[in-house]
Amino acid sequence: MEGNIPPTTTGNLQDYEVASKEFAWASVDKEFDWSQGSVYNVAYEAIDRHALNWRKNKIALYSIGASGELEKYTFGELSELSSKFADGLIKLGAKGGDRIFVYLDRTSELYMAMLGIVKMGGIAGPLFSALGPEAVKDRALDSGASIIITSENLYERLLPILDDLADLRKIIIVDGKEELARNCVAFEDIMESGDPNFQTVNMAPTDPYIIQYTSGSTGKPKGVLIGHRAMTQQYITARWVLDLREEDTYWCTADPGWITGTSYGIFGPWYLGTSVVSFEGRFDARTWYEILVNYGITVWYTAPTALRMLMRAGDDLVKEFNFDKLRHICSVGEPLNAEVIYWAMRVMNKRIHDTWWQTETGAHLICNYPCMTIRPGSMGKPIPGVIAGIVDEEGNEVPPGTEGHLALRPGWPSMMLGIYRNTPRFKEYFEIPGWYISGDLAYQDDDGYFWFLGRSDDVIVTAGGRLGPFEVESALIEHSAVAEAGVIGKPDELRGEIVKAFVTLRPGFKPSEELKKDITNFVKTRLAYYAYPREIEFVESLPKTRSGKIMRRVLKAMELGQPLGDLSTLED
Ligand code: WT7
Repeated sequence: MEGNIPPTTTGNLQDYEVASKEFAWASVDKEFDWSQGSVYNVAYEAIDRHALNWRKNKIALYSIGASGELEKYTFGELSELSSKFADGLIKLGAKGGDRIFVYLDRTSELYMAMLGIVKMGGIAGPLFSALGPEAVKDRALDSGASIIITSENLYERLLPILDDLADLRKIIIVDGKEELARNCVAFEDIMESGDPNFQTVNMAPTDPYIIQYTSGSTGKPKGVLIGHRAMTQQYITARWVLDLREEDTYWCTADPGWITGTSYGIFGPWYLGTSVVSFEGRFDARTWYEILVNYGITVWYTAPTALRMLMRAGDDLVKEFNFDKLRHICSVGEPLNAEVIYWAMRVMNKRIHDTWWQTETGAHLICNYPCMTIRPGSMGKPIPGVIAGIVDEEGNEVPPGTEGHLALRPGWPSMMLGIYRNTPRFKEYFEIPGWYISGDLAYQDDDGYFWFLGRSDDVIVTAGGRLGPFEVESALIEHSAVAEAGVIGKPDELRGEIVKAFVTLRPGFKPSEELKKDITNFVKTRLAYYAYPREIEFVESLPKTRSGKIMRRVLKAMELGQPLGDLSTLED
């Protein structure tokens, strides 16, 4: 199969061209209860208001455990439980503006905690449970987090770093009733102490509700702050892009440790009163197909690596299932190759809609819509209300077909408010006058479709997750055998990119497979399970500038067999 995929007439957004001309952000206001005098708070609009009408008894959350066990919560129940948690937090001494981390597997408590924090005016910091102690420490120190909500299992991982976290006052532990250490409180006790009638706190549009850590090409991860005003854009894109409706059952496969899992795993779908499915377990092709079919998923948001893994699992498997109920599929996080789109058309007769955005953008920006022809391999076109462009170093838009920076006119509602305690880094996004510079390189075709080309920096996008080489290098050199390390993203058919590390050894250590395994394990357990180098190459020396900076650009060119470029700053 090849060629473009024709549009359908069944979507919420009926005419992209008309909407792009006529849409005004203010027209979304009336969809929220605050426009009728209720408090202004993303959690109120996502949950509380539905508990006041017939949706009180509608299922908000199907939480599927790792081994398939199911918990269900109605909007009424979630409203009450998150209120209790919010009030319990306040009784524990939490205050508005506090950074409060949620370090949990994808269980129902994660959702109660996230909502509770936001309801009491806190800034929720979701941490993917695959993170190791070093990664949690970096984020906790940067944000000055005062409370961490975690589980008994994950608490074990925190033990080596607890003494370093000067700002941390309390740890709330799910299922931890027995012999809790000093500073630890049981989740149940917080719930018991909280008032179910707690009233969600009124916030300003520019107050942050979330601090979402993400990697850059330099330094440790940055705390991106997204404001309550993001609800406007999250709402309208949940409708236009995810195509969500009242009767839908929606599954977002992203973990809330990534922004997809909060903007579109929690808030976006719940503004619309949609039932959300969450699965705690890991990827497994058969299990995923079973969830799609057995739960009657109608809208599914996932990532290219997962889709490629399903494709690899084979046509025989996919043909065992009937996807009649599935109406709409979206993808995000990395380039969605045309092959995957053709595969889904062939085996499921479904279109996959690629969506492009970033942690910093808070919500969708460039997307495909049911009413628009899909050009497989293209990210689509800007959502109505957003102006995107391909620009050169001076901010001039370049002609169609020309590579340049993928840039946006600042001011869309969900744009980050800032980077926590790092104004210089925030300003870097706006160095080209008039534009927000995404860090991606792309081009536009003659008809305005955007096509992704790569990153303009050293950021690695692996299996839909973003990783900074510096973090991995820092973890590597903590290993007793490692003298220096340079890390790059190496193109990979399945994962988009994999982490490759070039390593020099300290005197007395010899390269071996054993040592590779040991180093791999070291990074996995300290930094994150997904962040380890899938390839390690021992080298005698690393290319460095005269000031001693490792030239990753040269490592990458060497790896890919490409010209090495300007080497005038190379050490020798
Ligand atoms: C980076 C942002 C916010 C969603 C999850 C990722 C890459 C994202 C696409 C896409 C090609 C994509 C970009 C971007 N990316 N979506 N549809 N096609 N690349 O958020 O972790 O902040 O990463 O992911 O390089 O800059 P993130």
